[in-house]
Amino acid sequence: MYTRRTFLTSTAVAALTTFLVGCSRSSNEEAPAGATPASSSADPAPIGKRRVGRSDIFISPLVLGGNVFGWTADRDRSFEILDRFVDAGFETIDTADAYSSWVPGNRGGESETIIGEWMRSRGNRDRIILITKLGSEMDGHKGLSAANVQRAAEASLKRLQTDYIDIYFSHFPDPSVPHEETLAAYQKLIEAGKVRIIGASNFSAEQVRDALDASAQNDLPRYEILQPRYNLYDRDGFDGPLRELAKAEELGVITYSSLASGFLTGKYRSEADLSQSQRGGGIKRYLNERGLRILAALDEVAARHNAAPADVALAWVIVNDGITAPIASATSVEQLNELVRAPTLASKLTKEDIELLEQASALA
Ligand SMILES: NC(=O)c1ccc[n+]([C@@H]2O[C@H](COP(=O)([O-])OP(=O)(O)OC[C@H]3O[C@@H](n4cnc5c(N)ncnc54)[C@H](OP(=O)(O)O)[C@@H]3O)[C@@H](O)[C@H]2O)c1
Repeated sequence: MYTRRTFLTSTAVAALTTFLVGCSRSSNEEAPAGATPASSSADPAPIGKRRVGRSDIFISPLVLGGNVFGWTADRDRSFEILDRFVDAGFETIDTADAYSSWVPGNRGGESETIIGEWMRSRGNRDRIILITKLGSEMDGHKGLSAANVQRAAEASLKRLQTDYIDIYFSHFPDPSVPHEETLAAYQKLIEAGKVRIIGASNFSAEQVRDALDASAQNDLPRYEILQPRYNLYDRDGFDGPLRELAKAEELGVITYSSLASGFLTGKYRSEADLSQSQRGGGIKRYLNERGLRILAALDEVAARHNAAPADVALAWVIVNDGITAPIASATSVEQLNELVRAPTLASKLTKEDIELLEQASALA
């Protein structure tokens, strides 16, 4: 069960060891070292971390994606990646109950199981901010009914070998269930100390608005954080009404597919390159004039900073107004070594760099 004592211990340790970044400030930016965030009784922000919505959770501006665990990274490789991520000073890991059910022979739960075994073997649960999700098809159940929230949470806790989830996401909206039912089920989990805060992934601005209204009108917990798809190519998942709502309501935002499934690393430049990864088939849609224009801009900014295109792509998300952190996955320590440099690069991006990237990314 999550208790405040646990959190104080972990943040005290994190404050001493945290990764130092000096990112330019955005609306959800971390408080200066030692400052207490206004309008909250929360602890002071650990250096370089950003507050998640109005909660007392602070995260570094890079979240590790867990959908590769049990898919393109086996257990040993996953452990190496997780070790490297925390060694580099980061703490927040994103997974979902259904990862990686799409792999032939898998049934879902593989990613959570690997993360649970890793945390158990390293004894580091209190130093990790753990994100998981429910609602995708698992064991013949799906959706956001109260019964499924309860069932899925218990199953995730078991696989993760923990008694609390830091951030629990509705993976997809479920229009067949009233928000009140889902939120009341989350309230029970929060009151039992099994979940700290909740989030909404793949919700439209209208769906988030309705859910926030349901929380306020019924004195239920609110979705404190969103998880849209967003990157230099896929802009419509967050630009516009969702960003405006997130800012107005002070919601945390972590973006998925921040590297466009690997396209923004620059390793796919032609159809011949698609065979480089099992993900190649999904990359084809980016190989067009706009996609190649974005890669050219990434190359140019990367050259200016002696960085890799992947760093620049993530740094652009990190400085993006209203975003708390990008999520990105890696299938090797070498790949991850590039990604962990992004928060530092974010502090160095110039106005000209951002303009170049925005021009390339603009829809014709
Ligand atoms: N909420 C949702 O509905 C949702 C949906 C999708 C994803 N997510 C979350 O977001 C996370 C990341 O999204 P994503 O899976 O779409 O992937 P992504 O972060 O956009 O791309 C990551 C992939 O790019 C490749 N890569 C990463 N760094 C690289 C480097 N330095 N050099 C070359 N290649 C590199 C790796 O794949 P290869 O080695 O195979 O090329 C890696 O798995 C997921 O793990 C998951 O946690 C959430």
